[in-house]
Formats: sequence, structure tokens, C-alpha cells
Amino acid sequence: MMEDFLRRGLAQTTLHPLNLKVSSACGVYIHLEDGTKMLDFISGIGVSSFGHSNPAILEALHQQVDRHLHVMVYGEVQQGSQDLAASRLLGLLPSSLDSVYFVNSGAEAIDGALKLARKVTGRHTFIAMEGGYHGNTFGALSVSSNQSRRAPFEPLLAGVEFIPFNHQDALDSIDGTQAAVIAETVQGDAGIRIPDIAWIKRREKRCNETGTLLILDEIQCGIGRTGKPFAFEHFDVTPDILCLGKALGGGMPLGAFVSSTSRMRSLAHEPDLGHITTFGGHPVACASSAAALRLLDDIDWNELELRGAQLENQLKKNSAVKAVRRLGYFIAVDMESPEAVHFCVEYARKNGLLIFYFLSTLDSFRIAPPLTISDTELAEGMAILNRAFDAWSLQSASHP
Ligand SMILES: Cc1ncc(COP(=O)(O)O)c(C=O)c1O
Repeated sequence: MMEDFLRRGLAQTTLHPLNLKVSSACGVYIHLEDGTKMLDFISGIGVSSFGHSNPAILEALHQQVDRHLHVMVYGEVQQGSQDLAASRLLGLLPSSLDSVYFVNSGAEAIDGALKLARKVTGRHTFIAMEGGYHGNTFGALSVSSNQSRRAPFEPLLAGVEFIPFNHQDALDSIDGTQAAVIAETVQGDAGIRIPDIAWIKRREKRCNETGTLLILDEIQCGIGRTGKPFAFEHFDVTPDILCLGKALGGGMPLGAFVSSTSRMRSLAHEPDLGHITTFGGHPVACASSAAALRLLDDIDWNELELRGAQLENQLKKNSAVKAVRRLGYFIAVDMESPEAVHFCVEYARKNGLLIFYFLSTLDSFRIAPPLTISDTELAEGMAILNRAFDAWSLQSASHP
């Protein structure tokens, strides 16, 4: 499998690529060159939240491509698509988050947020969460906790302390020496860990008391994934800096860090151009984003929650499933072992359904369908999953 990529001149870092040959994608389906199709229950890992080839997004893209592509490095010229994406995004956010810096990816948004926190506070250290995943640039990796993924690339950024997620006493570590606390609002790669509201509120209070900025990473759990436009809305907190990516671009590469205008100003002096990105806020990505953000208005959140709860109940009915954690369409399914997970991911793939692993949580798999998925499509996926669970139960019973 790996050789197949390398032979074609493509660097490859996964030893087990899905290696499907894609010809097109539409709605919840990815169509393959061999004429078959896959039901996408993971949205390209939380990206295609409005379905593949969403007509409104395609229309905005076509219009922008006809107008112009890249014209100048970020921030130098006025571009209508950036203005539209910014006004739609900021229109959805609390008034304290009134300034957005568009970048190219989730990890760049994290790096930008960490830099901003240092610049604003004049402090250097950070508190991050055990189980946290923030991406693979040096900055983002430095605040991600998976030791086996960090070790070969150390030394990383100095002064990062990891505390347990959702643990009251650990919050005492926020003592006024740190620039920021960084956390996913709902942890994704840790297997969809949903924190208690009391813990989140106390963390926010500690940050406020100590002048420590709160950076929330909603790169995966934002833009509707958890059943509200932003996951922090479930917990009645507001971050000082919000990081976005993945679904933000409507299928195009786009990240963002969002904060207050006054904080963002600190990146414009000593040095000026405190963050530079050539392609950040690319006009085509911003046009796509503006269309995607508009589509959030069309989502019936009550219906999404109803469907999510139904899916959760159906999953829990199968004895091969040990536990399900879910917020909206952000779902982890625990099984008895990594082997069980591997069996089901493979079985599903061979039978036309895409589900996928977590990087760090090996006895769970993820489900994150497009927010636009219909009842029939959910039922189609669930039927394949039930067959996968049953096949695993049969196999493990015959080879205990
Ligand atoms: C929570 C979270 N933060 C950051 C990132 C990094 O985003 P990117 O891969 O676009 O750099 C990811 C990617 O999966 C993520 O899930």
C-alpha cells in the first residue's frame, strides 16, 4: 500500500492508507473510479460538514475563481471574499471576539494563537491538556500531549505544562505565570471527551483571576459539529482566543484565530507584521468559507440532536459496543480492543462505509457525518455498522 504512493512520487506517512481511488464526491457519498461509492461517516475528518460538492459552496467558488485568485500577501489588499467570510464568522460570535486572522490550516491557527498570547501577556509559558491534540507544526505539537508523537521531534517549545482534562484540582496550576491555557473545548483525538460545565466555568474563572488567556481549539469541534455553531456555546464560556479550521473552509484549506481587536493590534508592532502568511485568507478559500458559514443558518439543530441521539441509542444496542460518547455529530465508539476497531473499520470500508480511527485512542473509532446527512443515509450507515459489529462478535467468539 505504502509503496503504491511512493511509486507515484507522493511522500507517505501512513503505513495503512485507505488507498481508495476517488473520482468524485457529492453529498454524503464519495464515488470511486471502480464505479462503487462510499458513504462518508467522517466528513474527511470533520471537514466536509455541509456535504461534498455542496451546490452553494460550489457556486461561491466558481464566482470567486472567475473574479481572481491570489493577488497579494495577507493583509495588503482589500478582498471582498475575506470581508464576507469575516463578517459572517464574527456575526456568529460573541462581541468580544471581533477580529479574525485567517491562516492556512488548523496548526497555523494554533501557532498564531500561541504567539498572540505571548505578545499580549508578555509571559512565555502555557498550560495544555493531557489528551490534547492541536496539530503537527512545532508550536501545535508542543501543546499536544501524545508523547510518542512528540519524542522524535524534541526539544519542542519550552514551558508547556500538561494538566489532566476535566480535573478540578489541576486548575490550581493556573497561577498567573502562564501566557495562556490551551484546550480543545471538546477533545477530539482523545476519543470525544466532553468536559463538565463546572470544570470549564472554573477554568475560565481561574484564567480571568490570573490574567491568563484562554485559547479554545475548535478546529475539529467547531462550525456546527457538536450541534451548535461553536462547542463553547454548550458550556456558557467565551474564549479569549478561538482557533478554527477544518469545516471553516467548506472544503478549502482555511484556518483562523479569532480574538479582540485590541489584542490583535499587538501583532502589528514590535515587530510590525508580527504574523505573516502568504496564502492565509486565500480569496477562494474565503469565498468557500463565507458560503459554508451561511449554510449554518439552514441547519435544524433540534433535528440534528434528535438524529444524533437515535444514532447513539442504536450504537449502544449492539453488545460489541462498550461505550459511546457523543455531542451532536461528534461521536466516539469504544470497542473491546484495537483489533475490534480495526476489524470494524476494515469491514465497513469493504462494505461501502467510511468510519475511522483516532490517532491516540486505539480502542475507539470516530463517527462524524456531514451535518446535512438524511435519516435514510444514517440508517444505511448504521445497518453496515451493525453487520460489522455482528461479524466481529462472531469472529471473536470462534477465536477467543
Ligand atoms: C483539535 C484539532 N486541532 C488542530 C488540528 C490541526 O489542524 P490541521 O491538520 O489543519 O493543521 C486538528 C487536526 O486534526 C485538530 O483536530
